[in-house]
Amino acid sequence: MQWNFQEIQQQARNDAGSIGNPQELEAFRLKYLGKKGVVADIFAALKSAEPADKAAIGKGAKELRGLVEELLAEKSGGVNAVKTIEEQVDISLPGTGGDIGHTHILTQTMKEIITVFEGMGFVTIETPEIETEFHNFTGLNIPIDHPSRDAFDTFYLDAEDPSSKGRRLLLRSHTSPGQVRIMKQHKPPMAVIVPGRVYRPDAVDASHSFMFHQIEGLLVEEKAQFSELKGLLTEFCRRFFGPKVNMRFRPHFFPFTEPSAEVDINAEILGIQRKKWLEILGCGMVNPKVFEAVGYPKGKYKGFAFGMGVERMAMLKYGINDIRLFYENDVRFLKQF
Ligand code: PHE
Repeated sequence: MQWNFQEIQQQARNDAGSIGNPQELEAFRLKYLGKKGVVADIFAALKSAEPADKAAIGKGAKELRGLVEELLAEKSGGVNAVKTIEEQVDISLPGTGGDIGHTHILTQTMKEIITVFEGMGFVTIETPEIETEFHNFTGLNIPIDHPSRDAFDTFYLDAEDPSSKGRRLLLRSHTSPGQVRIMKQHKPPMAVIVPGRVYRPDAVDASHSFMFHQIEGLLVEEKAQFSELKGLLTEFCRRFFGPKVNMRFRPHFFPFTEPSAEVDINAEILGIQRKKWLEILGCGMVNPKVFEAVGYPKGKYKGFAFGMGVERMAMLKYGINDIRLFYENDVRFLKQF
């Protein structure tokens, strides 16, 4: 008989002893139990074996197969449980990494606007979102019976104004109270911008929100003129929207500026097909009544002011057609900017 089954079994045990990973386990299985493996070879040789040897060979082959199966079962538990770190994690694959965040499109737009004005010499100052009636209305020449003072037009707090008995604090309805605060604290000449949130109890739809952002501007000196205001805002719009922008000044009324105007941007030229003209800001020469309210000497100063809606500016510049998109924080929207 050409087979020494003792030796083959010993060899199989030795082979099994050196198995260290699933690949080696599979190689071991193929070596003994594969189609061209040792066990198959022995069975194949059985046909041509001497009749006297057949029983012994058959028995030897079966025993070998049994042993190899046992060794496989024994080894596979250990081998599969203990994997090297390379097998658990394919360190050659590119990493998944975390998404890197960035500033919100409204923050970006505010920064762009602020950068343009700071480039023209304006200083940025923030003033409170919770205001007194004096700063939000009275100091701005907004009379006591004006509809915007009504509780339905303004968010009042359930808190008394410590500086005015019987009057309540409120969420500012515009950034213009910043004008009053800054003029009370500083002497002209001054050129400031006041960015921030404002609140109005508007029903939310594609173009309205109960909270939005404004940037107020104020310049006060002895000889400020309306033509300077016009030139400044024209240059601002060119820098912000690009040289193609087409704008117009339209006469308007604000209690705290006189004369007053609103500025519209031609949306068609910017490629936005909603309305032809979209209002972006209010402006005008500071009303002498406001200078009086902040205690400036009569007739000494002149100034101009403007207030723009940041959402409107971003919508026009980036072609965004629904104001709600700014606040939903859907990353599919935010990622685009
Ligand atoms: N505060 C005004 C508004 O919210 C805008 C404005 C600011 C107008 C400054 C004139 C001067 O509509």
